[in-house]
Amino acid sequence: MKAVIWKGRKTVGVGEVADPEILEPTDAIVRVTSTAICGSDMHLYDVLAPAMHPGEILGHEAMGIVEQTGPEVTGIAPGDRVVVPFNIACGACWMCERGLMSQCETTQQQTDEGKGGMLFGYTSMYGGVPGGQAELLRVPQAQYGPVKVPANGYADERFLFLSDILPTAWQGVRYADVREGDTVAVLGLGPVGQFCCRVAAYLGAGAVIGVDTVPERLALARRWGVDVIDTDRTDEVDAAVRERTGGRGADAVIDAVGMEAHGSPVRKWLQQRADLLPEPLGSEVAESIGVDRLDAMMTAFTIVRRGGTVSIVGVYTGEADPVPMGELFDKGLTVRMGQCNVKRWIDEIWPALIDEADPLGTEDLTSHRLPLDEAERGYKLFDKQKDGCIKVVLQP
Ligand SMILES: NC(=O)c1ccc[n+]([C@@H]2O[C@H](COP(=O)([O-])OP(=O)(O)OC[C@H]3O[C@@H](n4cnc5c(N)ncnc54)[C@H](O)[C@@H]3O)[C@@H](O)[C@H]2O)c1
Ligand SMILES: [Zn+2]
Ligand SMILES: [Zn+2]
Repeated sequence: MKAVIWKGRKTVGVGEVADPEILEPTDAIVRVTSTAICGSDMHLYDVLAPAMHPGEILGHEAMGIVEQTGPEVTGIAPGDRVVVPFNIACGACWMCERGLMSQCETTQQQTDEGKGGMLFGYTSMYGGVPGGQAELLRVPQAQYGPVKVPANGYADERFLFLSDILPTAWQGVRYADVREGDTVAVLGLGPVGQFCCRVAAYLGAGAVIGVDTVPERLALARRWGVDVIDTDRTDEVDAAVRERTGGRGADAVIDAVGMEAHGSPVRKWLQQRADLLPEPLGSEVAESIGVDRLDAMMTAFTIVRRGGTVSIVGVYTGEADPVPMGELFDKGLTVRMGQCNVKRWIDEIWPALIDEADPLGTEDLTSHRLPLDEAERGYKLFDKQKDGCIKVVLQP
């Protein structure tokens, strides 16, 4: 089959690899019909390159048609149309029972890396499971993971984003503890940030402020009723948010940027040095030194009001990042974060998905639909935010 393969820093390509097979009784094989490129793939593309191995199959946002199921998979059958959550979770362990599928103890123990549960297409740190940017996907824990969706009547994109970015945004808003009428600021208007804005409004926010610098992303957010601020400079964002909130700051701030924030050339330099070191050392540097670019997170702490909540959705991997504890303590902030627990939110999101009016605009996000063969171009467009690129969906 064809699959998108990581070849080296900032180099991916479509290659021919062996078809996946059922290896465990709880596996399924899905023939992928749509698979998206995510901001999280861009970390692997660039700053997390030291953790990658050439030949790894990328991708964790996929849906398609079930082709085969192992004997212990009873909830889905060949022919079913399914979305595959990016967490690989058992649904039955202590963590899964508490809605923490990203920490699934069954799949975590299979990796031995001291990380959370397994993820599709996300390095050996998360199980080294081949990803979904491919014609076929082996889905472990398929007795629990895949979400069955209506066979027809809807375009793939109505459901595709259930694999990751829609529940991720939903969790981001829930973790932000948004109350009726609150002012929510969303940093970063990539695909995740766009959904954070829409979900915040849908769940009752009184005002949504969005921050980015990319014109097409600002325009899309504006079209969805977001009050946009066009800058990534903390002092300017702070002034603009205070002006809109009677000087107090936003009730909740969602960081939908993560470790690759604009600005701070020194930190960028440090990140690149990690990649030039011998591989084991480089990998250690990328993981263990505080090399994240913290501009978005720091901005979040600045613009949130006293007693407010910061919800961090963007990914960070540094282990020694400086955090302004004095500011957090004095302002009395609540900070929540983490990988999305996809299946925890499906039931809450479902009514919006099958609503004719598409209130979350699942069909109003994708800027580029490309054949899988053009994955390389898709990665470049998304990386450079060229050609109005907001979300790329690949069709095998
Ligand atoms: N927690 C999870 O489970 C989860 C799931 C999916 C994605 N993510 C993460 O969410 C983040 C966003 O993903 P995406 O697909 O939207 O990526 P993206 O790269 O398209 O979006 C990031 C946006 O932030 C903007 N930005 C950069 N620096 C900024 C700054 N200082 N202030 C304001 N805006 C700034 C960029 O211009 C860009 O539009 C990534 O870190 C991704 O890894 C997390
Ligand atoms: Zn993703
Ligand atoms: Zn589990």
